[in-house]
Amino acid sequence: MQWYEIRGGHRLDGTVSVHGAKNSVLPILCATLLNSGVSVIHNCPRLSDVEASVAILRHLGCQVDWEGDTVCVDATVVQRSDVPEHLMREMRSSVIFLGAILARTGEAVVSMPGGCELGPRPIDLHLAALERLGAEVAVQGGNLLCRGGRSLRGTEISLSLPSVGATENALLCACGAEGTTILQNAAREPEIVDLVRFLRSLGADIRGEGTSTLRIEGNHPLHSGEHTVIGDRIVAATYLSAAASAGGEVYLTGVDPEQLTTVTALLRDAGAEVRREPGAVWMRCEGLPHSVGPVRTSPYPGFPTDAQPVLMAALCRSRGTTMIVETMFENRYRHVDELRRMGADILVVNRVALITGVERLHGAPVEAHDLRGGGALAVAALGAEGVTQLSGLHHIRRGYASLPEDLRALGAEIRWRQGETTEGA
Ligand code: EPZ
Repeated sequence: MQWYEIRGGHRLDGTVSVHGAKNSVLPILCATLLNSGVSVIHNCPRLSDVEASVAILRHLGCQVDWEGDTVCVDATVVQRSDVPEHLMREMRSSVIFLGAILARTGEAVVSMPGGCELGPRPIDLHLAALERLGAEVAVQGGNLLCRGGRSLRGTEISLSLPSVGATENALLCACGAEGTTILQNAAREPEIVDLVRFLRSLGADIRGEGTSTLRIEGNHPLHSGEHTVIGDRIVAATYLSAAASAGGEVYLTGVDPEQLTTVTALLRDAGAEVRREPGAVWMRCEGLPHSVGPVRTSPYPGFPTDAQPVLMAALCRSRGTTMIVETMFENRYRHVDELRRMGADILVVNRVALITGVERLHGAPVEAHDLRGGGALAVAALGAEGVTQLSGLHHIRRGYASLPEDLRALGAEIRWRQGETTEGA
């Protein structure tokens, strides 16, 4: 067993550079299949989810090489069009490979992505979009079979909700369709904008990124390209929440503060001082945060669901009561029981969580049950008295490339431990 041992009570103070955005890199790696040449992607974090995508690209026949935090994908030769179950199980969001494989090879076979720790993760919008473009989709023996990639036609697609994944699948598939595709009610996340900018570096003709309507001129011959991935706004939200939880003053570089405004606005309401500058954000938080007004998660530019767990953790020690409404996922409160083990006072009824601030949290053995829940437990541990043993590191490593190193750079006492159990550690 392995765990992080975190001794709380240290103010955080210092500068950290935020690594590249996981949720940009994943669709961008899929998009490299659309270019029968070389794609060079800088600022790629070494995350298990990124390694899972690299494994799929290699399985398909691509040559993929790392040089530091640069990934070089040579997709000149793509010999396969299937993503086998063991690779799909690594990461359910690999379903976004569907559109790119279909556009590149004319067909695609992926094993049905299961749900995940956050609850069922339907893909009906993904499949409906691919069918609108002319693909034939069938489910057989637990696999999704898609054909018709050679006769895709541009069309009008309207998503019933601004799904990030469905937007990405539709966008990549439309790049391989003959003619113009208009994608309505598209997701507006910064990671979608980043994906479009990467595709444009390959010569794709796409307009409207960051708005609800994307216009894609398909079947443009694409060429080799190069791109630098944006900073990870959720990792940045995690570190800002850590400073709110433990108190202190942090300066984060490598992230666009304009992509964090709903998070920094809430932290300012909680009593923090926040300053934004191009490519960086500074925050100071002294004493207990105040409770904040009702927080509802919603699609960008609303408050991001991925930041909900870490903000909740920062508000466990606060003055007053905060209500959080998780509108995006059914089961995104699995960190609550673990926070309660540290003394948090949280009531959950369906998708509503009421956090009644306490003066003190105490360290305890806790377990991460999903990626951002793991980030939340680290945030709470930094503001707790005593030692916390945080296990479930495989979840954390999906989205944090250097959590212990970055927190230590800010003055936290955190180290990786290994042994039989965390008891008595
Ligand atoms: C992306 O997931 C992110 N993952 C998630 O981050 C993030 O929480 C989510 O967007 C929302 O911002 C990646 O980018 C890899 P959605 P995605 O499709 O694309 C429903 C992380 O670990 N829906 O925007 O799966 C769905 O059930 C993850 O970084 C359908 O009903 O999210 C959810 O309620 C956690 N049918 C809502 O839409 C569909 O076909 C939003 O999901 C697709 C989605």
